[in-house]
Amino acid sequence: MAKKIGILTSGGDSPGLNTAIRGVGKSALHYYGMQLIGFRDGFRGMMENRTMKMNHGNLSDILTRGGTILGTSRDKPHRMPVDGQVVDMTDVIVANYHANELDALVCLGGGGTQKNALRLKAKGLNILTLPKTIDNDVAMTDITFGFDTALGVATDAIDRLHSTAHSHHRIIVVEIMGHRAGWLALGAGIAGGADVILIPEIPYSVESVAEAIRERSRLGKSFSIVAMAEGVISKQEHEALLEKRKDKAAGKSNKSKKSETEASSETQYADKTVRLAKQLELLTGLEARVTILGHLQRGGIPSAADRLLATRLGTACTDLIEQGRYGVMVAARGEGTEAVELEEVAGKVKTVPPDHPWVVSARRISTSMGD
Ligand code: F6P
Repeated sequence: MAKKIGILTSGGDSPGLNTAIRGVGKSALHYYGMQLIGFRDGFRGMMENRTMKMNHGNLSDILTRGGTILGTSRDKPHRMPVDGQVVDMTDVIVANYHANELDALVCLGGGGTQKNALRLKAKGLNILTLPKTIDNDVAMTDITFGFDTALGVATDAIDRLHSTAHSHHRIIVVEIMGHRAGWLALGAGIAGGADVILIPEIPYSVESVAEAIRERSRLGKSFSIVAMAEGVISKQEHEALLEKRKDKAAGKSNKSKKSETEASSETQYADKTVRLAKQLELLTGLEARVTILGHLQRGGIPSAADRLLATRLGTACTDLIEQGRYGVMVAARGEGTEAVELEEVAGKVKTVPPDHPWVVSARRISTSMGD
């Protein structure tokens, strides 16, 4: 009997999702003769059993298309908002898996999706995941698809900001996505020649950033580009966070209020970016402007590297299904791929080690890391 696979995309979208759907779909349908159905809008669509038949027609012409033809959502099976309440819908999702007579479910997603997939694995589903996110923060894989494209977009933005910063003798602080990880800001900052790169893994001091800019002025360079990851924290905020963690460990935590030191929303990120730009104006005497790249980094045509990666991961996924190997994430490892148990991935975040070779290189070329 031909195997029947379900596929869904979950979490924030990223370039390469359609390429991965195509990779799974074409190899499943054409190479292995399997059947494939899509669930719309992530786990929400699976809970509501909203399906999409996947065939030669809708797998064609999607290689270069941004977003996901299936739609996505950030809904989690065990915490699904339904009629104004948050409900555990895991059993409904499990029931729909069986009602559709699936042999396996493929989930394309980032860190949150790995955790949700592990929960469904525990419920007995044959589940596989592919690591997707522009943040590149999924553990146990060399890289995630979407990252390379976003890196290109952010680098191009920094290139463009250079000329206007130069003309007006300004500081431009460019806020780059990445949640709590600095891969995107660091990569684009180096590739785009930012003068200062701030990442969450290296708490910054405003005074050091200002001094790096003043030093440039002394050298006759009257403009500066600051590439700032959205999740950065200052040294003071970092210390406050450590204190809070200590209190929590000692059972003294105050659970009633969310800490202002924990950046968690788009607004908090933007406030911090604007605040930094204002502080730099005061400390350097230069005019400062802010550019928030936001969701531009997630949209549009995937790069060649992302297309190649998503196709490799998608086809390796169907090989694993054919072998009956489930409960794993299909990781990128060197030139090849590797099946990693979901238990090894879920709940972990791959952040930038402060002594990572990219950081070392940035420092060697006199880029300030703000510390
Ligand atoms: O995880 C991907 C990401 O783009 C982060 O870099 C960013 O913080 C977040 O998603 C934005 O999410 P939303 O789509 O909810 O605005």
